[in-house]
Amino acid sequence: MNPDGPFPVEALAALPEDRRTTVLRRADPRWRRAVSAMSTLYGARADAEDLPLRVAMRLADAVSERRDDLWHLDAERERTPDWFLKPDMLGYSTYVDRFADDLRGLTDRLDYLTELGVTYLHLLPLYPTQPGDSDGGFAVANHRAVHPRLGSEADLVALSKALRARGISLGLDFVLNHTAEAHPWAQAAQQGNQRFRSFYLTFEDRSLPDQYETTLTEVFPSTAPGHFTWNEALQRYVWTTFYPFQWDLDWTNPQVFEAMLDTALWLANVGGEVLRLDSAAFLWKRLGTDGRNQPEVHLVLQAFRALLGIVAPGVLLKAEAIVAAREVVPYFGRQHAPGCDLAYHNTLMASLWYGLATGDPTLVERTISQTMPPSVPSTTWATYLRCHDDIGWWPLIVELGAEADARLAEVAAFYAGERPGSFAWGRSFQSQEGDAHGTNGMLASLVGLQRALEITHPTERALAVARIRLLHGLLLGLPGLPVLYMGDEIGLGNDPAEAARQADGRWLHRPRFPWSHVHRRLDPATPEGQVWSTLRTLISHRRAQPALHSEVAAAVVPMAAPSVVAIRRSPNAGAPLLILGNLSSEERTIDDLPDRFATSTDVLSGVPFDGWLPPYHIVWLTSDD
Ligand code: GLC
Repeated sequence: MNPDGPFPVEALAALPEDRRTTVLRRADPRWRRAVSAMSTLYGARADAEDLPLRVAMRLADAVSERRDDLWHLDAERERTPDWFLKPDMLGYSTYVDRFADDLRGLTDRLDYLTELGVTYLHLLPLYPTQPGDSDGGFAVANHRAVHPRLGSEADLVALSKALRARGISLGLDFVLNHTAEAHPWAQAAQQGNQRFRSFYLTFEDRSLPDQYETTLTEVFPSTAPGHFTWNEALQRYVWTTFYPFQWDLDWTNPQVFEAMLDTALWLANVGGEVLRLDSAAFLWKRLGTDGRNQPEVHLVLQAFRALLGIVAPGVLLKAEAIVAAREVVPYFGRQHAPGCDLAYHNTLMASLWYGLATGDPTLVERTISQTMPPSVPSTTWATYLRCHDDIGWWPLIVELGAEADARLAEVAAFYAGERPGSFAWGRSFQSQEGDAHGTNGMLASLVGLQRALEITHPTERALAVARIRLLHGLLLGLPGLPVLYMGDEIGLGNDPAEAARQADGRWLHRPRFPWSHVHRRLDPATPEGQVWSTLRTLISHRRAQPALHSEVAAAVVPMAAPSVVAIRRSPNAGAPLLILGNLSSEERTIDDLPDRFATSTDVLSGVPFDGWLPPYHIVWLTSDD
């Protein structure tokens, strides 16, 4: 494979002249980057010699199939590459069926998302799945089709067009680490097809698996311990990082690379504008390591970034790598080898929850100083407080040092309501004695709103709403594309009945959207109304602040008052903003404001700031000068 070879123009022969010219323009320097990555990954394999040509043919097919509206959108995105870094971006993540039954139902509900201010909608996996338990749709039986229960490919395309018409970008899951056991590839492998057996990592006995397992760490230690599953039909062990019915793909096989590239191109051509790279950290395995974040993972993603950029430069890649922040940063790539455009900032998310439970801002501050914004141009964090998964505590272990396990176990116990004074109604997830793995629960339950309503305690209720305001005020004030989780905008609580029906505790926070009482959001006397108007205020102020563009630096300002996080955003043009958030249940007085903000006004309330921060209060200050 020659990384310096030109793009094989012969692959483009059937394309109309204008598209051919555009592809060749975009291919420089992307093609060189892609072939360089592919040759490092696969150069030693005899079956990969013509990989570049085969890939070029696939790109050409995808270009010819790309609809005109998407082709024009790509051109627009090339003109405004910071489109997703602007402060008017707001994400929302949901399961299709939990929100609106199916794709058509969802298409009918878009007014609600528009009213909230959503500009990016991430839909959790909507593909055909393993029958029975499917790990919430992440055991995919066909990556290029819609689950019949949710609709058809035509419905998905129609939804993407309806979203685009409203200025909302569609995000789709790209589950690239594994397939369901029920996937035709895994089925063919079990019927003896050697080509498809080589799509997976299988072992005739336990000797290699045992060696790997000495350094691998568990994802589901309680419900799916171990990384290997014996398969009767194959008479071999299969690598299954997650549940036994999720078979890890063998990315050392160039045919897997090609097949998954086809999937990415399909997702782009049905209208996906953001591809969420599920479990990206696990793609490449290496003996003697924890099997995450191997250098080859980054090469695969850099190759995908470059190749997708030739066909669909408007499409973003979003890494889901739930590992320590310093291990996530490389997912953005480097200036001359771009990787993902977005990456989930799970360390920020977990640090915010840690800070709320302990009142200690150190972790939040350190995370902001060390990682925000990312240093690669035109990239940013996907920031969030809750999602369909648990709050994973383990990425904080490296941050907390020697006492990490004990401190995280305390915080997990706090959110499970097992500590005196705890306001939370969450539950621990996959945790064993002394080892805090994760915490489940909806935001409203974790901040104490559900409990306050149950015990009908108005002060507790006000405090819970203040915590929601504080967490979102920080999130929306930091660099990143903030993604809300379905229901959090109206303070929707846990669904213990669903959790009891399912084997996986994460269903505690996958409730059905309560359309029957969503109208209460417009009544300020209701909890729904209080949470909704709180978030709407933050969202509309964020849109209007040039200081909150993702590329504007976020500087942590040391403050004398304990438990107060202070972040300064100073744009090149426009007024700077000082964000002060009180993580504690006690009031604080600020008397060391930076000179520039000595007389300032809180833009959220419109009131001049007098230095007083009630419990959990947050202000966004602009200087009066
Ligand atoms: C990701 C998903 C999670 C799923 C796992 C395996 O982490 O967010 O829900 O269980 O991947 O696909």
